[in-house]
Amino acid sequence: MSATPTITLDPTATDHQGEAARLRAAGPVVRVLLPGGVTAWAVTTQKLLAELITDPRITKDWHHWHQLAEGRIPEGWPLIGMIKVTNLVSADGPEHQRLRSPILGALSPRGVTALTPRIRQIITELLDELPGRAGADGVVDLHEHFSVALPLQVICEIMGVPADWRARLRQLVDNVLSAVLPPEEVVQTQAAITGLLAELIELKTAHPGEDLTSDLIALRAEDPAALSARELMDTLWALLAAGQETTLSLLTNAVRLLLTHPDQLALAQSGQVGWEAVVEEVLRFDGPVANFPGRYTLEDITLAEVPIPAGEMVLAPYSALGRCPVHHGPDAGRFQLDRHPATRHLAFGHGPHVCPGAHLARTEARLALEALFGRYPGLRLAVGQEQLVPIPSHFTNSLTALPVRLG
Ligand code: HEM
Repeated sequence: MSATPTITLDPTATDHQGEAARLRAAGPVVRVLLPGGVTAWAVTTQKLLAELITDPRITKDWHHWHQLAEGRIPEGWPLIGMIKVTNLVSADGPEHQRLRSPILGALSPRGVTALTPRIRQIITELLDELPGRAGADGVVDLHEHFSVALPLQVICEIMGVPADWRARLRQLVDNVLSAVLPPEEVVQTQAAITGLLAELIELKTAHPGEDLTSDLIALRAEDPAALSARELMDTLWALLAAGQETTLSLLTNAVRLLLTHPDQLALAQSGQVGWEAVVEEVLRFDGPVANFPGRYTLEDITLAEVPIPAGEMVLAPYSALGRCPVHHGPDAGRFQLDRHPATRHLAFGHGPHVCPGAHLARTEARLALEALFGRYPGLRLAVGQEQLVPIPSHFTNSLTALPVRLG
């Protein structure tokens, strides 16, 4: 098909930065092999990805993916849950605007400002509870009890999801993102997600509240053409999944990086560098979104002199591009809070699909990190760095646990 090398993506999906370095070394555009023998393409420079994202010869609509259309993707393929969706993520142009505009108000700076006192309150409660979360050895899993707990609670409150559904929701998101879920569980997970969303729609139709789910149901009731039943369900899922997974990864990656770079932590704790800058450098250096799927070539194209046929999937390797030396300079591989000049990263994407939750995520992360290190200034890792276990996922870049001592 092409003279470019094909790189097999790490089947355990646990070494994103190592993989990124291998892809970069292979060239600006690389053919990659995903689990199950599925092929795709990855671009390895930030500039090229930014151009590709806004290229009209690229679509977000998975119906244009030949391997899927030709029945070559098995039903239990572990990555399918991130791809076969019918919502803003899979739409282009005016259709995309129709599906995106109803969610923008709640996530806008004004919407997030209104939520901020509640976010602060949840943070305080979670920090209060942390000592009680310690095991007999005094170790707390900060990932579970802080990084996961905060965005999960915030997005559930925004969406009006009952508190006792959170664990179930969390498990489903974990499953969707896993690279190693057995095929029968992939299929079960898809059915369970549909079940949960149907229950949520039923609950909020019967008992509307001041939440985004109720707003979207009301929009559909007023004008069924504004949002089909499938689109409503998949939009709810996009918000519930994206609203927690990414922010929790940002928090865990930030705490891990600060605890393993004491000189950088000192800059933040002394106020020499603001917590906003900490958040931005973590997003650049070790961003939450690894290989985002779901872009397809509408026609044969040539990218950086590499021909890509029509109907192929192109991945956006966001977390890797934060270390793109062409864009971020020769020291892109160094975690440094006071970078001058701070370069623009693509951790929240680019173009029309740029993350609508960026303001919420930045706000949660900034407030959480400042409060965490303010309350527990002696926070430290309870295990060696090499014992931290990454999440096995092609999409998300984070850890399965973050064992710490509170100090
Ligand atoms: C889209 C990253 C938090 C909801 C995206 C995209 C990226 C991203 C890279 C673009 C994907 C693409 O099409 O190439 C992140 C990161 C976050 C975060 C790094 C946290 C640190 C959130 C939050 C929400 C959210 C908190 C919701 C409450 C969405 C939605 C889209 C999206 C709905 C699809 C937008 C569209 O296709 O038009 N995000 N996100 N994200 N994000 Fe986020």
